[in-house]
Amino acid sequence: MRIVALVSGSGSNLQAVIDAVEAGELDIEIAAVGADRHGTYGIERSAAAGIDTFVVNFRDYADRHEWDDALRDQVATYEPDIVLSSGFMRIVDERFIKKFEGRYINTHPALLPSFPGAHGVRDALAYGVKVTGATVMVADAGVDTGPILAQAPVQVLADDTEATLHERIKVEERRLLIDTLAKLGT
Ligand code: GAR
Repeated sequence: MRIVALVSGSGSNLQAVIDAVEAGELDIEIAAVGADRHGTYGIERSAAAGIDTFVVNFRDYADRHEWDDALRDQVATYEPDIVLSSGFMRIVDERFIKKFEGRYINTHPALLPSFPGAHGVRDALAYGVKVTGATVMVADAGVDTGPILAQAPVQVLADDTEATLHERIKVEERRLLIDTLAKLGT
């Protein structure tokens, strides 16, 4: 199974996938890693792991559909079985979704449909929930919507900050992600 992963930030979840592949625990090929902007650590660490990388810089395009099309075409050159949004913080349009229908996988640091968006951990803390968690889903053109593939709960502790809670969620998120990729690959 060939995957192309998309990142906007540090790519620490992607690193867990890279590590699982290198350890022989996950039988997939990471064909390429792409980003929507220059200078992400996700691209830097992927290149360091010897993976092909590309940037389709959002700011270089006159409108978002031109960017969507450029991203879709770039991803398609790798002929992936799965496209993984690994902390990719942009919504893609219907044309992108259609091209990779049912094969665009996303993760989110909350128990969807609660707390979608860019601040799922912060919003859950602010609401005062006692349990939150991680979700892996098939992405559609909405904000963290689409069929849920796997979820895991995480307790919120009294002294949690956004950073401490996010780190514990990511432990579950990485496990779910690797399990889901393994299942999709069989
Ligand atoms: C992950 O927790 C991912 O679920 C979240 O961004 C983080 C990326 O971390 N994505 C979203 O919030 C999508 N709405 P990473 O770059 O260190 O892997």
